Amino acid sequence: MADYVLAIDQGTTSSRAIVFNHSGQIVSSGQLEHDQIFPRAGWVEHNPEQIWNNVREAVGLALTRANVTYTDIAAVGITNQRETAVVWNRRTGKPVYNAIVWQDTRTQKIVDDLGGDAGPEKYKSIVGLPLATYFSGPKVKWILDNVEGAREAADAGDLVFGNTDTWVLWNMTGGVDGGVHVTDVTNASRTMLMDLDTLSWREDIAADMGIPLSMLPEIRSSSEVYGVGRPGGLLPGVPIAGILGDQQAATFGQACFEVGQAKNTYGTGNFMLLNTGTEKVQSRNGLLTTVCYKIGDQPARYALEGSIAVTGSLIQWLRDNLGMFSDAPDVEWLAQKVEDNGGAYFVPAFSGLFAPHWRSDARGALVGLTRYVNKNHIARAALEAVAFQSREVLDAMNADSGVDLTELRVDGGMVQNELLMQFQADQLGVDVVRPKVAETTALGAAYAAGIAVGFWQGEQDVIDNWAEDKRWSPSMDESERERLYRNWKKAVSKTLDWVDEDVEK
Ligand SMILES: Nc1ncnc2c1ncn2[C@@H]1O[C@H](COP(=O)(O)OP(=O)(O)OP(=O)(O)O)[C@@H](O)[C@H]1O
Ligand SMILES: [Mg+2]
Repeated sequence: MADYVLAIDQGTTSSRAIVFNHSGQIVSSGQLEHDQIFPRAGWVEHNPEQIWNNVREAVGLALTRANVTYTDIAAVGITNQRETAVVWNRRTGKPVYNAIVWQDTRTQKIVDDLGGDAGPEKYKSIVGLPLATYFSGPKVKWILDNVEGAREAADAGDLVFGNTDTWVLWNMTGGVDGGVHVTDVTNASRTMLMDLDTLSWREDIAADMGIPLSMLPEIRSSSEVYGVGRPGGLLPGVPIAGILGDQQAATFGQACFEVGQAKNTYGTGNFMLLNTGTEKVQSRNGLLTTVCYKIGDQPARYALEGSIAVTGSLIQWLRDNLGMFSDAPDVEWLAQKVEDNGGAYFVPAFSGLFAPHWRSDARGALVGLTRYVNKNHIARAALEAVAFQSREVLDAMNADSGVDLTELRVDGGMVQNELLMQFQADQLGVDVVRPKVAETTALGAAYAAGIAVGFWQGEQDVIDNWAEDKRWSPSMDESERERLYRNWKKAVSKTLDWVDEDVEK
């Protein structure tokens, strides 16, 4: 009898494997970081082969630490950094180029050209997304345009594309020996190539980007058996039965199944998703329309999403680029040494600004500086920036849905930071709630897989297993709350229009 479900979380910073029991609790885990490759300003790459090696090693660690083998695993779920594009040769199994990561801005010219006179909203009513460097399609075009021999190999049918879910699944199910080339609806909805109504690839948009349809994975639901682990691998014969993009997986793991429920994940970036049910809501306030999940044959559920590119990675930047501390959690210790931000505001527009602004011409700025400001204030300004950005997104969600959110479920690495969570509640003016299992991304993928094989019966099991750990309520004086936010908006205005012909080479 298989008592466990294994989730693989192929993230931006690391790859994790987590063994969950039937109550949705963590039994064991393995985690390995991979290299962040920055060849030029604005470029961010990962090595897909390193990622695949790390996934295998993480799975080995998780199984060993739980003292179980593949026979104890009922199903495997995969969740992943979305949009990050891998192009590889289906005959050799070799990537033709590094993975181009979601934060990478090199496709700016491509997206400007694609928009032409129609502008950034050209495909929005079909795919739910504005033209931006964030999404996969233009990254694939960049690889075909710039890697020697890639276009010819693609036209010959030798190259395939996938987000990292597809890359991991293909390798797990056999690679060159019959690997399954599949993705799920949530990942497909981040490529700019999928029609949100029909849940199928748009030939016309793919043609605009010069991407042969033969490169694209088959689109399937988020919860069904796609294939089994290859013979001789760590998980031979085990069904791989769930795929959800990381933010959709967190929404699933947070049991946000009702229309109007939302979660915010605080990781490398921040991502707030609001479940809009079977209705596809078009945002008028800078949010994305995306697929939330689709269980087997049931209709797809949609979400409004506010994506923020830089939050946890700003803390990493203070740690790695400025050497301000050696562990990310230390930022709280610095920030609490001061009462307030000392007048400093830090807008981390390192990849331009995502939701709700979508300004690729913005770059980071630290403003309001005087001789009074010290590094503790800067640590605090960095944490406050995370909360201000989330407030901008929540305001947009309330405006789009016409209903004000009454509380927000949170998860991700940064929600251990008490100072941030209190400031977040103060800024949002609603309760912020952290669940007992904060690894909701992996948990959501586990649930999707477990539901597909009958290990769990359905959403009600997820709801029953969800439990509150801690709640923060707003306590800040209203005038102070608004003063800070007004200044934040002023700071944002200082970052715009920075990139022009001359700035980046
Ligand atoms: N106590 C803390 N205070 C502030 N930031 C923190 C704290 N702990 C972790 N972080 C930040 O949170 C991020 C890690 O969170 P998490 O593990 O959820 O990231 P992630 O986005 O899931 O990673 P991946 O992108 O690989 O999926 C890092 O960017 C780190 O700087
Ligand atoms: Mg993550």
